Amino acid sequence: MTEPDPDPNPPLLTPRLRLEPQRAGHAPDMAAVLADPRVHDFLPSSPPTQAELRARFARLESRRSPDGTQGWLNWVVFARAGGSALGTVQATVRPAEGEADVAYVFHPSAWGQGYATEAVRVMLDFLASGPGVREAVAQVDTRNAASLRLLTRLGFRRTAFTPHADEFRGVVSDEFTYRLPLAPASG
Ligand SMILES: CC(C)(COP(=O)(O)OP(=O)(O)OC[C@H]1O[C@@H](n2cnc3c(N)ncnc32)[C@H](O)[C@@H]1OP(=O)(O)O)[C@@H](O)C(=O)NCCC(=O)NCCS
Repeated sequence: MTEPDPDPNPPLLTPRLRLEPQRAGHAPDMAAVLADPRVHDFLPSSPPTQAELRARFARLESRRSPDGTQGWLNWVVFARAGGSALGTVQATVRPAEGEADVAYVFHPSAWGQGYATEAVRVMLDFLASGPGVREAVAQVDTRNAASLRLLTRLGFRRTAFTPHADEFRGVVSDEFTYRLPLAPASG
């Protein structure tokens, strides 16, 4: 008998947080998180509608790109104590390179309490526990001080600077690349 493939996007728990595998049904939760314009200050995005999110999340439920080359892992983050969604953590896994591009967005009411640190850390631990991901990679607008502090707190190191990586809302976005080698799980 062959072992079933392990779930690539399972629920995850931390002392304070519950990370649910993102589904189309989370569209209202995440529409509320993404409705605050401050969330998009250093991103090329703008607040989406619930219908847009539902369609996007339905596509992402495949957990894989159509050509099979990428894993699409997405979690919606809640406090274990209950209440509305706090944010999301995401990993785009590129097995050919042994890398995962990570991203995270939290509602401003959840900032400054270490929730993003806790949620991204458990995602990184999960990625490190499986085969295929040797390094996490993050691209960050150079003005995004909170995100840069978060990455440094998690042990990421700055490895590259890309001037004029993007342009949105009439402003040039320069980016840093941050990388974190992931230790394979022992035992
Ligand atoms: C990037 C983002 C997730 C960072 O959120 P954050 O709240 O600063 O990060 P954390 O949840 O880890 O909280 C860390 C802060 O809480 C404080 N804190 C309080 N309790 C804490 C705890 N138990 N553990 C760790 N930090 C704690 C830390 O001191 C830190 O404060 P500081 O940044 O003033 O030094 C948030 O700014 C965001 O969602 N921005 C919009 C989307 C975005 O730009 N995403 C990144 C794209 S690259």
